[in-house]
Parts: sequence; structure tokens; C-alpha cells
Amino acid sequence: MNAFIQGLPKVELHLHIEGSLEPELLFKLAQRNTLSLPYSSPEELRKAYEFDDLQSFLDIYYQGANALQTEQDFFDLTWAYLERCHRDNVIHTEVFFDPQTHTDRGIPFDVVINGIDRALQQGHSELGISSQLIMCFLRHLSEEAAIATLEAALPFKDKIIGVGLDSSEQGHPPEKFARVFKMAQQEGFLTVAHAGEEGPAQNIVDSIEMLGISRIDHGVRCVESDALMRELIESQMPLTVCPLSNIKLKVFDKMEDHNIVELLRKGLAVTINSDDPAYFGGYMTDNFLAVSDAHKMSHREIAQFTLNAINASFIDEALKEEYKNKVEEYLRTAV
Ligand code: HPA
Ligand code: ZN
Repeated sequence: MNAFIQGLPKVELHLHIEGSLEPELLFKLAQRNTLSLPYSSPEELRKAYEFDDLQSFLDIYYQGANALQTEQDFFDLTWAYLERCHRDNVIHTEVFFDPQTHTDRGIPFDVVINGIDRALQQGHSELGISSQLIMCFLRHLSEEAAIATLEAALPFKDKIIGVGLDSSEQGHPPEKFARVFKMAQQEGFLTVAHAGEEGPAQNIVDSIEMLGISRIDHGVRCVESDALMRELIESQMPLTVCPLSNIKLKVFDKMEDHNIVELLRKGLAVTINSDDPAYFGGYMTDNFLAVSDAHKMSHREIAQFTLNAINASFIDEALKEEYKNKVEEYLRTAV
């Protein structure tokens, strides 16, 4: 099963690029930018990655992002992630970035996006990985700040396919961002939102109704509403589930308790993703392996996660067909 999962073509739809900053690169960037860190080594930093909930993770994650300062830093960050994708047979990835985490520290928007975009272009030409970029608003910040971020993004519209919503779900419900999401849609952006990770099933319902989303990020608390479950099956609204993240942030106690396989078997359009792999203990292959170690599945069921992700992705129909054929071919030939 390990070899089957390793070789399976994969599509990632829920990855925060700042969450792929490994301690070793963080130390290298801190040195390059002459910053001092409150840890003596990457190993010591990695040991601090024990979280009680989403907020305890976010505090450390935003601290780590301070090491990112120049366009080259954002390039190096993104390139390291793409090399990791290549090893995991990730053929397409849709990457989140959090501009406010950087612009609030005085790093210009163009420094952030140009560094990330240059690496994504190179990932396509040198590694054959296709990609899209999604800009997230930080939900703990104000609506006005989100609107200002949307305005800052307009000159870079050709590089950004959609907008999303991340950071602290508790206390910052979807309706806070209904207006800015409407503005983003009027500018031609697609929309997604984190919902039902720590927050209730109602946040999923409200994100669908008020934010016009094409996908739900996480969404695992949908099981708390039978009506919502029926709607998700009927509409085939995709869920970008992040198994290792959910264990690290204690959304579930252990992988055996995770509901992703139950959701798959009930016919929801669930996908497997890594979220913040540098912090949560693994990239795409690790996430697939963790789920399949805890839940017995057939090859076809495992491959269904990739097929669902291809259908849920923001690529054109011709490329979707090409990628689905690649997965079917793999299923025919893999032993
Ligand atoms: N949830 C909310 N915000 C985030 C996450 C997450 O899993 N990762 C990075 N920002
Ligand atoms: Zn996330």
C-alpha cells in the first residue's frame, strides 16, 4: 500500500505556503536577514510544535512568518514546497498565501506575490507541476483591512485565481466577510473559505449561502447536521480535508477517529491535503499514508481522493480530463 500511495498522482487544494516553512529554512532566512530567534536550533524549534488548538498553532505560525522578508525568501519558500511536491507525485497544487501577515510588517504586496509566483512558474516549467494561487483574508482582522487587501491585489489579478478566508474561526463568522467576498466575485475571483474546522456546522452553511464559495476548506464538522450532509452529497460541494492537521490541532483525538473515510463512503466530495505541512508532521504522501494506516481502504477508494480533487480544482476541463486519465491509467497498472 505504501508504494501505491507514493506513486499515486496527487492534487493539493489546501496548502498555506507560509505553513510549509521548515525550521531549517526558517533558520537560514533568519541568518540571511540578521534576525535573532528565541530557539537555538531547528531541532529545538521543531520540539515547540505541540499545539492545543488552532489558536496555539496560529501564534507560532505567524511568528515563523516574520523570517520571510525579501522576494528571494518567498521564492525559496515556495520552491522548497514544490520540490517536496515533486517527490510526492503532486501534479497540481492550489496554494494559499496570507498577504496581511506580511504587509502588516511593512513587506510590500508585490515582494510577496512576485517571489511566490516566480517559483510557481519555475515549478511548471522545470517540474511539470501546474498551480493556482489563492489569496486569503485573515478573519481575525477587520472587514476594512480585507477590502484594502483586495484592492492591493487588483494589479496582480492575472496571478490570483481566487480568495479565501483563514485564521481564527471562533468569533469570526463568515458573515463578517460577506461584502468583501461579493466585491471579490465582482472582480472575477473565485471564492473558498475555511469553515467547520473548529467552528460549528452552521459556519459551513453560512459560507455556502453568504460567501458564494466553490469549496469548503476543512468542513469536517458537517456531520453535526443531517440536513447539511444531505446538501453536501447532493451538491457535491468539495471539502478540502487535512487529516494530520486535524490530529495536531486536536479536532480529532486520533486518526482512527477521523471521519474522512466515512465522508468518502457516504458520497461527499472529500479530498486529502496537507494544510501546514512543516508544522503538522507531513506533506501529501504522509497524509494519505496516515489515513490509510488508520482506515482500511481499496486502491480505488484511495485514488478517489485524487479524482475528487481534480474535479474540485480550478483548472480547465481539458486539463481535468488529462489528469483523470493519468489516475485511471495508474489504477490499471499499479499493483
Ligand atoms: N485554519 C485556519 N487558519 C489557518 C490554518 C488552518 O488550518 N492554517 C493556516 N492558517
Ligand atoms: Zn488551512
